[in-house]
Amino acid sequence: MKMTPGHLSDLKAWYAEYVGGFYLRHPAQKPNIKLKDDHTVRVCREIVEIGRELALSEQDLLIAEAAALLHDIGRFEQIIRYGTLSDVQSENHAALGVRILKEKDILRHLPEAVREVVMKAVALHNAPALSASERDDILRHARLLRDADKIDIYWVVTRFYTDRDSLKDVDVKINLPDDPGISEHVYELLLHRKPVRYADLKRVNDFKLLQLAWVYDMNFDVALKRIVERGYLDVLVSVLPADEKVSRINEMVRAHVESRLKPKSRRPS
Ligand SMILES: [Fe+2]
Repeated sequence: MKMTPGHLSDLKAWYAEYVGGFYLRHPAQKPNIKLKDDHTVRVCREIVEIGRELALSEQDLLIAEAAALLHDIGRFEQIIRYGTLSDVQSENHAALGVRILKEKDILRHLPEAVREVVMKAVALHNAPALSASERDDILRHARLLRDADKIDIYWVVTRFYTDRDSLKDVDVKINLPDDPGISEHVYELLLHRKPVRYADLKRVNDFKLLQLAWVYDMNFDVALKRIVERGYLDVLVSVLPADEKVSRINEMVRAHVESRLKPKSRRPS
C-alpha cells in the first residue's frame, strides 16, 4: 500500500485547522506562530524542489512533503506552553511533535511503513547527528528533511542578523552576549571539525561562525548549492568580525563547498 496525494491533502487540511486554532486562541502569540507556520510552508516547498532535483519517486516526494509539513508541529504547543522557541529553556520540540502526532493519531490513514518514516524524520530533524544504523528509507528522508530545514533556517538567521526589526516581535533571541571576537574553544572545535554543542557557545559571533560551518552537515549537494547560490554564507561572513579566526574557518568552508560542487568529470582521467 502506498501513500496517495489524497493522504497528503488530508494532512494539509489537518495542519491548517490545527495551526489555525492556535492563531485564533492565542492572538498575542501570532508573530511566533506565524514564524513557524511560514517556515513550514517554505520547508515544504524546498523539500519538494530538492526531491525533484534528486529525481525522487512521486511516492518519496509525497512522504518528504508530509514530513516537512509536520516536522515543526511541536513548535505551536511549545510556544503556548512555555512562551519560548528555545528547546533548552523548554523541551525538545521534535519529541513534543512526535507526541502530538501519536496522541492525536494524525498518521493513522497512512501505510504503516510510511507512518514510521514520517515519524522518524520528524523525531530526528533536529538531532545533533544521524545514526547510520537507521533503515535506508528513514535515513534518506531524515537527511532530506534536515537539509530542507537548514536551508530555511539560513534564510531566517541571515534575515535576523541583517534586518533585526523585521523579526523584532518573535522569540528568536539568542541568549548570548554580543561580545567582540570569537571564543577560542569554539574556533578550535570548528577548525578540527569537531561537533559544537550549544553549551560551547559563549557569544553571538560563535553562533554565527557555527552556522557558517553547518555546510559540513548538509547531506545533499543540491541543497548545499542552494545555500551558496542564495548568498547565505556571504551574509554570515559580512556580519562576523574580520579577523584571523573567521577567515580561517571561512577558507575551510569555501574549500569544502568548492570540492563538493565542482562539476564532476564524467570520465576518470
Ligand atoms: Fe524544528
